[in-house]
Amino acid sequence: MRIDVLTLFPRMLDGFLSESMLGRACEAKLLEITVRNVRDWATDKHRTTDDRPFGGGAGMVMKCEPVVAAIEAVQTPGCRRIYLTPDGVPFTSAKAEELSKQQHLVLLSGHYEGIDQRIRDTVIDEEISIGDYVLTNGTLAAAVLIDALARFIPGVLGEEKSLTHESFTSKLLDFPQYTRPAEYRGMSVPEVLLSGNHTEIDKWRTAQQEEKTRQVRPDLLK
Ligand code: ADE
Repeated sequence: MRIDVLTLFPRMLDGFLSESMLGRACEAKLLEITVRNVRDWATDKHRTTDDRPFGGGAGMVMKCEPVVAAIEAVQTPGCRRIYLTPDGVPFTSAKAEELSKQQHLVLLSGHYEGIDQRIRDTVIDEEISIGDYVLTNGTLAAAVLIDALARFIPGVLGEEKSLTHESFTSKLLDFPQYTRPAEYRGMSVPEVLLSGNHTEIDKWRTAQQEEKTRQVRPDLLK
């Protein structure tokens, strides 16, 4: 899968793309991610990418010309062009899975008070928010989206199986996990996990999932 990220702060993604699972997925060519600086498409002497909003108000707005030029330069037929914005449609695990099946994504990170509406009207297919809070820019939101969808690409997770047990695939939150030592600072691992009885272990885990979900995310049970 190919992903182009368009941002004014490309270095924000340096560590993210080279570390851990993502780093390995890129090395293995399961993912081909290119981070591009929108400023490279600004044509004036000062390489301007933003300007004051018509109608007044605080902050600056990203200009049409460099952003549209950047998108038009990287887009391919059938690609999905996504703008990361707090006023977008809330991101979910289902959306991550859907996007993981695309051939090519173009992710636009916005800044300041937003971007000119005509960019959204002409070269954006979809607008996504990663949560009800406002980040200083959408670059980390793009990273969150990439990280979540990468887990659905076959081969990215070491053990394919680890997807099936998980929160949001099952609509229940996860059960508690323990590893060695069996006793730590006076706290012991629940007996059942040491029993080797997998029927009982599964029963215990499901009960824990239901209780946790009821406490923390009762909305998921509806
Ligand atoms: N840009 C700023 N805040 C954001 C959010 N919550 N989701 C996506 N993009 C953003």
